Amino acid sequence: MKLVRFSLLLFIVLSSCTVRREGREIVDLTQDWKFLLGDTVNASQTNFVDSTWRTLNLPHDWSIEADFAKENPASPGGGALPGGIGWYRKTFHLDKKCKNKCVYIEFDGVYRNSKVWINGHLLGERPYGYSSFSYDLTPYVKIDTDNVVAVRVDNSQQPNSRWYSGSGIYRNVRLVLTHAIHVDQWGTYVTSHQVTKASAKVVVVTTVKNTTKVPVIVEVEQIMEDKSGREVAKMLGDLHMEAHSVRKVSQHFQVDKPKLWRLNDPNMYTVTTRLFVKGKQMDEYVTSVGIRYFRFDAQKGFFLNGEPIKINGVCNHHDLGALGAAVNTRAIERQLEILKAMGCNAIRTSHNPPAPELLDLCDQMGFIVMDEAFDIWSKKKTPFDYSNDFAKWYEKDLTDMILRDRNHPSVIMWSIGNEVGEQWPQGDNEPMDLQKANILLNAKKTISAADLKSGKTKLYSLITQRLAEIVGTVDPTRPVTAACNETNVNNPLFQSGGLDIIGYNYHQNEFREVPKRFPGKPFIVTESVSALMSRGFYMNPSTHMNIWPESWDKPFSNPSQQCSAYDNCHAPWGSTHEETWKIIKKSPNIAGQFIWTGFDYLGEPTPYWWPSRSSFFGIIDLAGFPKDVYYMYQSEWTTDNVLHIFPHWNWKKGQTIDIWAYYNNASEVELYLNDKSLGKRSKVGDDLHVMWTVKYEPGTLRAVSRKNGQVVLTQEITTAGKADKIRLTPDRKKIKADGKDLIFVTVELVDKDGNVLPTADKDMMFSINGPGTIVGTDNGNQNDHVSLKSPERRMYNGKCLVIVQSNGEDGVIKLKAQGARLPKAVLEIKTK
Ligand code: GAL
Repeated sequence: MKLVRFSLLLFIVLSSCTVRREGREIVDLTQDWKFLLGDTVNASQTNFVDSTWRTLNLPHDWSIEADFAKENPASPGGGALPGGIGWYRKTFHLDKKCKNKCVYIEFDGVYRNSKVWINGHLLGERPYGYSSFSYDLTPYVKIDTDNVVAVRVDNSQQPNSRWYSGSGIYRNVRLVLTHAIHVDQWGTYVTSHQVTKASAKVVVVTTVKNTTKVPVIVEVEQIMEDKSGREVAKMLGDLHMEAHSVRKVSQHFQVDKPKLWRLNDPNMYTVTTRLFVKGKQMDEYVTSVGIRYFRFDAQKGFFLNGEPIKINGVCNHHDLGALGAAVNTRAIERQLEILKAMGCNAIRTSHNPPAPELLDLCDQMGFIVMDEAFDIWSKKKTPFDYSNDFAKWYEKDLTDMILRDRNHPSVIMWSIGNEVGEQWPQGDNEPMDLQKANILLNAKKTISAADLKSGKTKLYSLITQRLAEIVGTVDPTRPVTAACNETNVNNPLFQSGGLDIIGYNYHQNEFREVPKRFPGKPFIVTESVSALMSRGFYMNPSTHMNIWPESWDKPFSNPSQQCSAYDNCHAPWGSTHEETWKIIKKSPNIAGQFIWTGFDYLGEPTPYWWPSRSSFFGIIDLAGFPKDVYYMYQSEWTTDNVLHIFPHWNWKKGQTIDIWAYYNNASEVELYLNDKSLGKRSKVGDDLHVMWTVKYEPGTLRAVSRKNGQVVLTQEITTAGKADKIRLTPDRKKIKADGKDLIFVTVELVDKDGNVLPTADKDMMFSINGPGTIVGTDNGNQNDHVSLKSPERRMYNGKCLVIVQSNGEDGVIKLKAQGARLPKAVLEIKTK
């Protein structure tokens, strides 16, 4: 939900990102915070002196600034980076015109255990690091003098996550100023019904707050506009409000000939809600929405706007590689662009509420989203995880996620959990008394002593029901699922009846059982594959399957700590990419899948442990460079012509190398080595690739795909010689001079003929002149321990990446790259 909010207010600390219209003002509060890594006393107090603290802008993740180290208590599973305690302080000033205004502060996410004070007054705490929350500052702010917000973040208890979490105020923060009568936070709920080509019925439910001491009649106006700003519907209504009250008003209207939100044409509308009292405007609140309808069918899968669509999705964690957890819109957009070009159409926000920017981008770019709340309920996965907070906080955390996200057309289902321990009541011998059990049910449900005596099945089923009820109360328009790896019908999550869609993680050999086990229930593969790959690393023969580790609880070690990028390596609970896709492709009843994962992420370096520190699961590496299997999906999921042969062609003489080709829109591929044909190959039956086994000799490999004798595509790979120069390839030519925008530059070495050296591993050093900063470097190597913030980076299998951010001024940034005893390379980037 993209909200643009406005006001007549004059606010002194206006930043360039202030959004203002009549009745509401939104002030970006991300600039010039003071930060201390460590704990201290009295920092919550207004008169505390923070002048020696570091000054920085949010979003900020302090963990990503460190080197990787084995000793960090997060362990390699958590990314081998430090946690700790940190303090943030921000001073701001409100001028006289802000008197009598309501002032709120909104945090999109703080990892974790945040406590927030305003002018020394404790506003509250929020344990869950992925929830968005706000506080009402109104009673405590002072006019015409300094106000101090202090935030203590405690990520010291480790490990508390199975993956890299990041630490700090890693998402955006803003102040919201309103009149005393205003739309509440996340205060609109826009749904469409009875959608046809001719019309759609749109319902807007608005939650209005009257914070005054008097009853009022509020006139509520809704105007819906299309992308060009043309009004398509308008509605007026009255709301009688008591003093100090919160009330909802529901308004219906019809949109003629609605332009639907589609994956390839994600059309959006805006609904502008205005509140008036006696003709005077009190508030203006804008909600971005899309009109679309969908259904899940037990036999036929998923339909969007009446059309069958296979959900070709990926799971992603929230980290942005070298940027850590610190949210950046362009970095998320780049990830989505790379996925879109692969043909991916869906994202699972594994395993937590995402940054709001991700959902805005999915709306705008045409992705569907499975929005997931939790990885943990009451059963622990790591010693200090959310299980400790679940009983007290799940109601609020789940409600808030759905309130925040329910206007996004991209979101098409809610997941209440991933592989939660409550799936296995058998063998769960942890003592549980009746009181504790009922605390877990939050007094909304009760369990009897007799039921508890016979085991935990009933309890876990009641928890599932309760979570599903919370979802259904806040948003009855979308189905509820959970990502289960206990596939048996006895799983209490299934038994609860609370899940609208059966969700399996892995277990591809049991997909066909689903219709028998759960007759009439739609089915989605909530998580699949878990194949393991290092970009650019190949183990021959490619036909040898590497299932690593052999069992999930056995440590696994391999001296090179790499995994083969032929699709011949996977975790034992998963499969190759090809195996699962072959099944799903042929099963119309399966709505689709979410592959583990789109991008490599920090932490969870299965099948290894230290010195590895990031995952091998991605289709795309941590730096954003596609691994070869990317093109398998592209050949299957897009209609673009695809031909991709691999690996590279720089080997030792006489080595025997398997050459794979992914292709589509052709009936055969012919491979040539130094102009000599090595034969034609065609995919037969279920095949997703073709292969040649070739004795290496230097030269040029050429692949030609043909259809009816006509050439469709040609690809050549030539053995690279000695490095001649450094090549810098930016993802865009210019960037916005807004202090946030990024440019991602790929660094390679090429020989004198322009052939890329595919195994180059040289040290590179980067520097900048002009209005920009290097904010990260990476190479996709899971075993590199140099801080991802360092301006020095060793290349890994021929590539590394440098990320440059504008510093807010117009001009030309000159990025210099040096290394490998080659002439330095310079790239000019325009910022405006
Ligand atoms: C799944 C789990 C994911 C990730 C994955 C690795 O079981 O849901 O979070 O750990 O395994 O294969």
